[in-house]
Amino acid sequence: MNIEERRFSILDSTNTWAKKNALQLPHDRITLVIADGQTAGRGRFNNSWISPSGLNVYASYCFFLPVHSNISNMAQIMALSAVKALEEVGVRSSLKWPNDILISKKKVGGILCETTALDNEILMIAGIGINVNMPLEMLKEIGQPATSLLIEKGIPFDIQKLIDCLSKQFSNFLTQYLLEGFPPIYSLYREHLIHSPGEKILFRHRDRIWEGLFSSLQQDGSLNLQLASGEIKNFHAGEIINVIN
Ligand code: BTN
Repeated sequence: MNIEERRFSILDSTNTWAKKNALQLPHDRITLVIADGQTAGRGRFNNSWISPSGLNVYASYCFFLPVHSNISNMAQIMALSAVKALEEVGVRSSLKWPNDILISKKKVGGILCETTALDNEILMIAGIGINVNMPLEMLKEIGQPATSLLIEKGIPFDIQKLIDCLSKQFSNFLTQYLLEGFPPIYSLYREHLIHSPGEKILFRHRDRIWEGLFSSLQQDGSLNLQLASGEIKNFHAGEIINVIN
């Protein structure tokens, strides 16, 4: 799919801009909304996303899909695209289920996928933030262990080059996903997952916290958690709060 870039020096949030401007977005290509900085960057679970200007990637890939399309793995596809794009610029990263991007067990990037229903189509807004040249003092303001490419590698990175790699990877994985679903991408995604069977995890789904052992990643990208009772519980969404060593 062709990608058209819309670049802004500052926005409240690239995802919010896309939602507000849904009616003016083209239907025959992906619109990539990029901002140098965000004043109200949003993360998952109503968290804010710290978005200082000129230091990081803040991007939303926006495109229309038929109403009943299977979009349940979109954030995982985006996360895998980010891992592959980082690989292209010489950085190894891994994935925390379902779509956190980690380096040295610290978060370097996150994804917020949102949809807006319009007549007989849905607008998918796949937003991604990657900490690229963020210095340590700013990373410390984030309420969880976080890192940037600068901190991990000790050198600044070209933000636009990383966006170009990401766009190429995402366009390829998205095309494959829309044609064949998640199964052909499953192995590659699993290869980059940090979790291994038997790992003890604390898991949040909606308002409930579960403790159990990571059992397996299913072919559809969902997670199987083994509870203390032995019961296996399957989750399509949620968050791994903690890995207990
Ligand atoms: C997370 O909590 O892990 C998701 C973070 C997503 C941040 C990106 S930055 C670009 C896009 N615009 C936003 O407001 N959020 C996403």
